[in-house]
Amino acid sequence: MKTILPSRTSSLSRLNRMLSAKAFDNARFFILVDENTYTHCLPTLITKVQPLQQAEFMEVPVGEDCKDIAIATQLWQTLLESGADRNTVLVNLGGGCITDLGGFVAAGYKRGIRHINIPTSLIGMADAAIGGKTALNLDNSKNQIGFFHQPAIVCIDPQFLDTLPDGEMFNGLFEMLKTFMVGSQQHYQQLCDMILQGTLQISADLLASCAEIKTAIVKQDPHDLGIRRILNLGHTFGHAIEAYSHHDGQSPLAHGFAVGAGLVCALYLSVRKLGLDPAILDRYRAVAAKLFALPHYTLRDTEGILTYMRQDKKNANGDILCVLLQDLSAPVIDLPVAENEIRDALLKLS
Ligand SMILES: NC(=O)c1ccc[n+]([C@@H]2O[C@H](COP(=O)([O-])OP(=O)(O)OC[C@H]3O[C@@H](n4cnc5c(N)ncnc54)[C@H](O)[C@@H]3O)[C@@H](O)[C@H]2O)c1
Ligand SMILES: [Zn+2]
Repeated sequence: MKTILPSRTSSLSRLNRMLSAKAFDNARFFILVDENTYTHCLPTLITKVQPLQQAEFMEVPVGEDCKDIAIATQLWQTLLESGADRNTVLVNLGGGCITDLGGFVAAGYKRGIRHINIPTSLIGMADAAIGGKTALNLDNSKNQIGFFHQPAIVCIDPQFLDTLPDGEMFNGLFEMLKTFMVGSQQHYQQLCDMILQGTLQISADLLASCAEIKTAIVKQDPHDLGIRRILNLGHTFGHAIEAYSHHDGQSPLAHGFAVGAGLVCALYLSVRKLGLDPAILDRYRAVAAKLFALPHYTLRDTEGILTYMRQDKKNANGDILCVLLQDLSAPVIDLPVAENEIRDALLKLS
């Protein structure tokens, strides 16, 4: 995997050079978009990356609805009917939903074709486009089907953030906060300060640091068998909170916000189980509260959320396993957490 790190002036020109090189001779490009990235991002991409000017494009519904096996099947059919062979390259232009779906389709088509991720949302640039995890949702459960399939190239160009709505920016900040919590105290404190002081600016340097931390962790453990699991901080709670919010009459929470709430729960348990400094929980809670209203749960809600947590992919031998923190940059993976502790953390969320 080659990563083109964020630069306002040169990311797409580097991609242009890479796609003009021998490795992509005779490649046939398909670009996967949703309605928003078709309107806001595709014109810039094909203007600046000459080899993509003849590309065909495929559009799918916006958001989680596209991470569905029926949509993946339609895309495989389109590729097959167009005569796409193994030299086909799928270019995923969009947020995490597009790169999760596109990566899945590329992994499955003719036992695997190359794909290029061009993230256009903050979640995508900070996290989803990097690392080769692809995923579809199954029934009400997030990311239950997927392959590891590394993208040939990840090209991060912050100019795509110019059209991203504020809510989507805030949503993405939580994956950055998570990565910095486990990977860089200095960047974590810098990002918290900016959010608390209302001076938020996502610079190319900050994005690059986040992408580099994730890339380095993935390199050590591409198949999520050990250290990569530290990136799941907040996600055992987060995925369940997200699924519950979509299917149990709550207001639906996007992935980043659900992870944001999950991080409060994880830090709460970290204070109790691993002696994390409570000031870290308090400061993070203040940061999260600046970005959205944390959900308030009753006992009935906790039972609903627990149902989803019991299905988490990371569970083993019936235990619900979480990543917790001893300190910033000191995560502990695979900690069994009792259902009563989970109820307590959810009830104390707000
Ligand atoms: N594979 C991984 O490692 C990984 C990591 C983190 C998150 N994820 C997945 O990512 C998904 C969430 O990502 P997301 O929030 O980017 O979702 P998304 O793809 O739905 O994008 C969010 C919204 O922003 C719009 N958008 C994207 N770029 C835009 C732009 N430049 N201008 C205007 N609108 C734009 C999209 O159309 C959509 O409405 C979840 O499904 C999550 O599970 C995967
Ligand atoms: Zn995530």
